[in-house]
Amino acid sequence: MNPKLENLLPSDLDGHVDHIGVAVADLQAGIALYRDLLGLELERTEEVPQENVQVAFLKLDRSGGRGHLELLAPMGEGGNIAAFIAKRGPGLHHVAMAVPDIAAAMERCRAAGIRLLDDKPRPGAGGKQIVFLHPKDCGGVLVEMCAPGDG
Ligand code: CO
Repeated sequence: MNPKLENLLPSDLDGHVDHIGVAVADLQAGIALYRDLLGLELERTEEVPQENVQVAFLKLDRSGGRGHLELLAPMGEGGNIAAFIAKRGPGLHHVAMAVPDIAAAMERCRAAGIRLLDDKPRPGAGGKQIVFLHPKDCGGVLVEMCAPGDG
């Protein structure tokens, strides 16, 4: 572990995985797999035009857990998900952690020497504020931090 992280722990954070992001080429095919074949409950679908993606949120479990599977399908040629699929094919894309205070979380990451891919929070699905952390500073995993939006 990054030695700078040791001074930051333990914390009083209520950390949990908000969602796991999976890039799919076709949203309906993804829903058919995870809902119709594997039994997850579809919560909603949504377009996120600023990211050029269509997303589906499926509940990770039916016992009131907060976690979701986020399927991300490109709506056209541009955008990160289209580029990801073109380069690597569909697959696991990111892990999103819920944070109560995204500005404070960004400060903690900066203090720990973790590079942020966003200078400031940007709007994501569900009206949330999101920031991505550099995968090279997170063990090869693209980590998203997300917090409830203002509205
Ligand atoms: Co996400």
